[in-house]
Amino acid sequence: MQQLAGQITYQDWDLEKARELASEFADRTGGVMIALHKIQETFGYVDDTAMAMLGKVFNLSRAEVHGVTSFYHDFRRHKPGKYTVKVCQAEACQAMGSYQLTEKIKSFLGTDFHGTSEDGNFSLEAVYCLGNCACSPNIMIDQQTYGRVTIEGFKALADSLVKEAV
Ligand code: FES
Repeated sequence: MQQLAGQITYQDWDLEKARELASEFADRTGGVMIALHKIQETFGYVDDTAMAMLGKVFNLSRAEVHGVTSFYHDFRRHKPGKYTVKVCQAEACQAMGSYQLTEKIKSFLGTDFHGTSEDGNFSLEAVYCLGNCACSPNIMIDQQTYGRVTIEGFKALADSLVKEAV
């Protein structure tokens, strides 16, 4: 399995810090989207308590903020697993079996896309091209890309990451 680089760590949820981040974009067109991205980059998800806060900062109803966060699947509403696994669903990877690989990874982790394994170790997401098509099928774990992934390779990698995290 070919591997490229990086791991993500998130801060624990902090409503005041989220408010500070959001306030920077209060006067910008589309500021709520930028704020949501910034909050997710920082904490790994957008906590329920952010809905009312974002409504005040951007002068929107709670329902409007909720509508934006649920329309865009990129925004997680729950604390992510220790690692985020993204499986490429774009054409080159599909041609090399990413659909079958995805089903096996879902079954191994016991979760669908946008969910987290029961042990809290892995969140699963779809991604559309990681720029490593020559080594399809590809996955990304946090910021590290792995090419020519097989289910056996994935299981071994997942086991080693869980041991590393203990
Ligand atoms: S299609 Fe999967 S990396 Fe490009």
